[in-house]
Amino acid sequence: MANAESETLLLEFARLVREAACNPYCGDLKVGVDLGTANIVLAVVDSKNNPIAGVTYPSTVVRDGIVVDYPTATRVVKQLKQQLEQRLGCTLTYAATAIPPGISAGNTKIIANVVESAGFEVTNIVDEPVAAASVLKIRHGAVVDVGGGTTGMSILRNGKVIFSDDEPTGGTHMTLVLAGALGISFAQADEIKKDPAREQEVFAMIKPVVEKMASIVDGWLRYYATKNIYVVGGASHFEQFTSVFANQTGRQVIRSIEPLFVTPLGIALSVRR
Ligand SMILES: Nc1ncnc2c1ncn2[C@@H]1O[C@H](COP(=O)(O)OP(=O)(O)OP(=O)(O)O)[C@@H](O)[C@H]1O
Ligand SMILES: [Mg+2]
Repeated sequence: MANAESETLLLEFARLVREAACNPYCGDLKVGVDLGTANIVLAVVDSKNNPIAGVTYPSTVVRDGIVVDYPTATRVVKQLKQQLEQRLGCTLTYAATAIPPGISAGNTKIIANVVESAGFEVTNIVDEPVAAASVLKIRHGAVVDVGGGTTGMSILRNGKVIFSDDEPTGGTHMTLVLAGALGISFAQADEIKKDPAREQEVFAMIKPVVEKMASIVDGWLRYYATKNIYVVGGASHFEQFTSVFANQTGRQVIRSIEPLFVTPLGIALSVRR
C-alpha cells in the first residue's frame, strides 16, 4: 500500500458500498463510472476528494473494455445513478470514466456515450491504471489493473505515464480454467473462486493463468528499470498472487487493499471541475 491516507480512503469507500451508506459532503460531487467486464462501479467523492457514496453491480455489458450491449449498459448506469441520487438527496451531474490502455478512439467514444446517455456530463476519460495510481498516490512505478477481462499496465515516472498496454487476460480466464478442471458451470466456478475457504485448492488450479499475466507484465517491463509493481483489480485477491508476480518479474510487488475499488475511486478523483 502506498500510504496510510490512501488506505483510509479505500476502506471508507468500500464501507460505503457494502453498507449502501453515504457521508455528508461539501461542494460539487464528482462521480467515477467504471464500466468493467465483471462489475459496473459508480464512486462519488466531494470537492475535497472524500468518499461520499458508491455502488457496484455485476456487469454483462462490457467485454475487454468494449461495450457489447449499449442499451443495457445505459439503463444500468442510469439506474445506479438514480439509486445514488436517492441515497444522497441530490442530483449527480459531473462524471469521468475510464478505459483499459490501448482501446481505440471509437470504442472510447462509445464508453463516454453510455455515461452521457445515462444523464452525466463526462468531463474526463482516463486510463484505468492511471486512475488507480492517483488513489495510491504513486508517481513512480508500474500500476497493474487485473480485472475480469483484461490485465492493463501503466508505468509512471515523475507522475507522467511513459508506457501503457493491455491484454485480454483476467479473472474470467481464471474462472474458465476452474470450470474446466472441476467440470462445473462458469457461475459455480466463479463462486468457488471467491470462497476464501477454498483459496489453496483454487490457486493451485489457476496458477498458470497468474503466471501468464505475470509473463505479460514482465514482457512490458523488459525495457524499464521499474522497481515496484502495484497491483489492483478484483482478480488480484489471492494471497499468492504477488509472489508469482515477484518471482516472474524480479521486482517488488505490492497489492492494494480493497483491490476491487481502487480504479473506480481513482476515476472519481479525475473528474474535472
Ligand atoms: N475475492 C475474490 N477472489 C478472487 N477473484 C475475485 C474476488 N473478487 C472478485 N474477483 C474477480 O475479480 C474480477 C472482477 O474484478 P474487477 O471488478 O476489478 O474487474 P472489471 O473492472 O469488471 O473488469 P475489467 O477491468 O477487466 O473490464 C472477476 O473476475 C471476479 O471474479
Ligand atoms: Mg476494471
